[in-house]
Amino acid sequence: MNSMNETLAEKQQRQPRFPKHNALAEEYRLFDPLNEATPTGVSVCVIGGGFVGLVTAVGLSQIGHNVTCVEKLLDRVSDLKKGDIPLFEQGVPEMVRANINRNRLQFTADFTERASAYDLIIITVGTPPGDNGEPDLNALREVVTSLAGRVRSDQIIIIKSTVPVGTARWIAEQLKPRNGSRGGPHIISNPEFLREGTALYDFFHPDRIVIGGESPEIIERVVQCYRAGMTKDVPIVATSNETAEMVKYASNVYLATRLSFVNELAAVCDGLALNFDDVAYAMGLDRRIGTDYLDAGPGFGGSCLPKDLEAYRAMARQGDVTLSLSPAVSRVNEQQVERVVEKIRGMVGGALTGARIGALGLSFKAQTDDLRCSPAIAIIRVLLAEGASVTAFDPVAMSNASRHFSDIALCDRAEDVATNADAIVVLTEWPEFQTLDWDAVKERMRQPNIIDARNLLDPDRIRRHGFQYVGMGRR
Ligand code: UDX
Repeated sequence: MNSMNETLAEKQQRQPRFPKHNALAEEYRLFDPLNEATPTGVSVCVIGGGFVGLVTAVGLSQIGHNVTCVEKLLDRVSDLKKGDIPLFEQGVPEMVRANINRNRLQFTADFTERASAYDLIIITVGTPPGDNGEPDLNALREVVTSLAGRVRSDQIIIIKSTVPVGTARWIAEQLKPRNGSRGGPHIISNPEFLREGTALYDFFHPDRIVIGGESPEIIERVVQCYRAGMTKDVPIVATSNETAEMVKYASNVYLATRLSFVNELAAVCDGLALNFDDVAYAMGLDRRIGTDYLDAGPGFGGSCLPKDLEAYRAMARQGDVTLSLSPAVSRVNEQQVERVVEKIRGMVGGALTGARIGALGLSFKAQTDDLRCSPAIAIIRVLLAEGASVTAFDPVAMSNASRHFSDIALCDRAEDVATNADAIVVLTEWPEFQTLDWDAVKERMRQPNIIDARNLLDPDRIRRHGFQYVGMGRR
């Protein structure tokens, strides 16, 4: 079956399940959708059926709560009701179907008529980049307007969407009773830190739960709703709404900053003929640095890091603070595209006109089909602009890719990108690219060149197969 026609479910079956976590049997128990948790009697409404909303809704239903997930797109609601999940996220489809069958997870397009019936209302609508980097809060405003006048003063409204500092306070104002009396629902800020590709794992194993609000009792009630699903004591940070709102941005801006540092270090290692892997390994042993999140690559993408950097800068401008670091983080990230293209040019004799390049991987990272801000897309666009022809393969993002490109050949198998190619470039760290039949690949190529933008492959092994190999900061 070629990957273009596979269903999402078939693609998911093909991917290793929780590659890092299967061994942890206790933790795995939480992932077992057949694991029946005791109903808690808590009713939750999750407004927004995207990546965050869907994972939050299914995770809370797996814990034992009664969850209604609201999605305004009618055709998406009917798909979700059938358990057709438009999301490539390991374990989510099975868990959604299991909890639909338990009548613990339902989907609807409208929440207004029952808004006052839920113990918790969690807002997870998207806040995509708007003008001058500020998040577009229109979807959020629409939800708040629909809630006004329909919620009780003892209800809890949880803002999980990534929102600028001060948004929770604004929502509290909007939901105050119009008759001027005091009260109004409790507004809680509860940012999520889910990563695409490991969202379910991250839901059940958060490094911390950040809860912003004014009432310790209400914060404790929200904590208890999560606690039942945690296998270990997770640090709970009870703080103000504003601090909770900033923690999300600060965390993502730090992660983006770390990655631009890593990518620039890899370029320095290239310049000095050092081995980035050795430097990064020794660095990471410093407990203040840590070994995670030190992989050099073609730059960071996805729907979060780039947009949160922009939103952070917009907030700084509102606070009249001039930033130097985070603009540089974005510049370094943009430079990564040129750094990878330069490596490809160098491998094919200096000019890309007429060169045939095979691209392995299109998604912004492995274990997802998401192409938003994917560096692979940006790199391929430059290759095409410089006159190269490009063939590409991605294990799961091919249907999304066909919406981005009409001028590249999308292949059915990874090896097919090698046909008559002058170079192959690895753009996404899909594990299956490590076990290709490199002799067969070399046979099909015009020139045996590999540019490994993810440092995914073993340079010695690749060179033993007769390839010219360059990585990111690899001698
Ligand atoms: C990120 C944050 O990690 C998560 O906490 C937040 O909730 C949402 O944004 P996500 O964007 O899904 O999650 O993926 P992440 O694993 O952080 O990767 C972001 C980008 O950085 C990807 O393009 C990835 O390929 C790249 N990356 C990540 C590297 O290049 N090197 C690394 O070591 C790690």
